[in-house]
Amino acid sequence: MSATLILGLQWGDEGKGKIVDVLSKDADLVCRFQGGHNAGHTLKVDNEKKVLHLIPSGILHPSTVCVIGNGVVLSLSSLLTEIENLEKSGINFKDRFFISQNCSLILDSHIAIDVARDKQEGIGTTGRGIGPAYEDKVARRSIRLGDLFDEGALPSKVDKLVSYHNTVLQEIYQANPVDINAITQELLQQRDKLEPFTTDVAELLKREHLDGKNIIFEGAQGSMLDIDHGSYPFVTSSSTTAGGVVAGSGFGAQHISRTIGIIKAYCTRVGSGPFPTELFDADGDHMATVGNEFGSTTGRQRRCGWLDLKALEQIIFTNSVTELCITKLDVLTGLDTIDVCVDYDAGKKPVYKSFPGWKENIESATEFAELPKAAQDYLSFIEQYLNIPVKMVSVGPERDSTFTK
Ligand code: GDP
Ligand code: IMO
Ligand code: MG
Repeated sequence: MSATLILGLQWGDEGKGKIVDVLSKDADLVCRFQGGHNAGHTLKVDNEKKVLHLIPSGILHPSTVCVIGNGVVLSLSSLLTEIENLEKSGINFKDRFFISQNCSLILDSHIAIDVARDKQEGIGTTGRGIGPAYEDKVARRSIRLGDLFDEGALPSKVDKLVSYHNTVLQEIYQANPVDINAITQELLQQRDKLEPFTTDVAELLKREHLDGKNIIFEGAQGSMLDIDHGSYPFVTSSSTTAGGVVAGSGFGAQHISRTIGIIKAYCTRVGSGPFPTELFDADGDHMATVGNEFGSTTGRQRRCGWLDLKALEQIIFTNSVTELCITKLDVLTGLDTIDVCVDYDAGKKPVYKSFPGWKENIESATEFAELPKAAQDYLSFIEQYLNIPVKMVSVGPERDSTFTK
C-alpha cells in the first residue's frame, strides 16, 4: 500500500486537521513529521471541537495508530497535557501512539529565547520555542527524547545547553535566566510517563509500509512558511513542504503516491510577513468573521485576503501535489464578487480575475452538482489554472461537511 501526504499549501490553518481526521477513517497510521506545538489543528465532530497541537489528527479513530516522527520538536509538557486532556475525553493511547526517540526537545529556555527575540525581531512567532529548538538541533547540541534514558549523562548535557541559553538570555536579551536543575528534574519525571510511547519510528514506518498498511503523513504549518521555500525570514523553522517527510520520519519519498494539497478558498496569515492579496476592507472582515479566523494556538486574529493562485503554482510543483482539497468554500457565501490573483504586475501588485459570488447556503452540499453555478465556476477555474484536479471540497468545520468530487 502506498502512502498519502496531506499538506497545507498557504500560510497554515488551511484545515489540515479536519481533512486528516476525515481521511483517517481508512488509515492504519497517521504520522506528524515536522513542526511542534506551534501547530493548531482543529477537529469538529458532532458539534464538539478538539484542537490538537502535537498529536496527529487521526487520534479520534480508535484503531488508527498515531506517530510523531524525529523531525518534530517536542515540548514534553505540551504533549503530556494534550494526552491527558484527550484521555479525559475517553481516547485511548495504549499500543497506538508512538514517538521517535530522535525528536529534539523544546525546553523552557527555548521558549524564553523565542519570546525575548521576537520582541526585537517581530516575526510574530507563536512563542513556543520552535526556532531556538531547531537551531540547537542543527548545531548538534539538542537534548533528544532518547537522551533522557541515559540518566548518568543527562544532567551535564542539560547543564551545558541551558547554561548557554542563560548566557544568551541575560547577555543578549537582558531577560531572566531559567533554573537548570528544575529543567533536569522535570525532564526525568516526564520521561517516565513517555517511556511506553518511545520507539524507533523510522523502523516502525518501514515495517508498517512493508505490511501493506495505509499511512497518512500530516503536515503542519503551510508550504509558504517553509524554512527554505517560504517567505523567508517570515517563516517557521522546519521543512513544511514534501521534502520534510523523508527527513522528519525516515519514510522514503518514492513510497508516497498521493499528495493532497489543501487550499483555503481564500487566504489567511498569522504573524508578520508579505501577503500581497491581503484585504483591509469589508470583504476581509467578512472572511475573518464568517470564517472565525482566530489562531487555534495563540488566539491571534488571522490576516485575510483573496486566494493567490500565482503563488501556488511553484509550491504545487515543489510538493509534487497530485490532487487538491479546497476548504472553507462556505465562508465565501454572501460576497458579491470573489477575486483571485492570477499574476503580478511590474510593480509586484496582484492582478485579479473577478468572479460573481453566490448567496445560497452551501453548508449541506454533498456533491459538486449541488453547489450554485458561481461556486462551481470558481472551483473549476482553480482546477484549470493549477492544472490539478480538485478531489475534495469542505463546506463546514464538521467531519461530515466534506464531499469528494
Ligand atoms: P489547520 O491548522 O490547517 O488544521 O487549520 P485550523 O484548525 O488551525 O484552522 C481551520 C479552522 O477552520 C478550524 O477552526 C476548522 O474547524 C475550520 N474549518 C475547517 N474546514 C472548514 C470549512 O470547510 N468551513 C468552515 N466554515 N470552517 C472550516
Ligand atoms: P498550523 O499547523 C499558522 C507562523 C507564526 C509566525 C511564523 C513563525 O496550525 O497551520 P513559529 O512559532 O513557528 O516560529 O512562528 O509561523 N505559524 C503558523 N501560522 N498556522 C500554523 O500552524 C503556524 N505555525 C507557525 O504565526 O508567523
Ligand atoms: Mg492551525
